[in-house]
Amino acid sequence: MIVCLCHRVTDRDIRTAVASGVHCFDVLQDQTCVASSCGSCLDCAREVFDGEHAARCSDGAGACHRAEAG
Ligand code: FES
Repeated sequence: MIVCLCHRVTDRDIRTAVASGVHCFDVLQDQTCVASSCGSCLDCAREVFDGEHAARCSDGAGACHRAEAG
């Protein structure tokens, strides 16, 4: 389904981004531009992102951390 009409971002795009290592919603926005125009998709985009992140990562959904840090 299309989550962000402004930028044609789908739930699959978001899940693919998480699967490829995006662990921060800000990074997702940088890569896809989701929720960066009218903002009406923000809640839905967050829900998809958090759900996928929680399913793949046990250290907190939406947590912003960098693999290269530390
Ligand atoms: S629908 Fe996503 S920014 Fe407008």
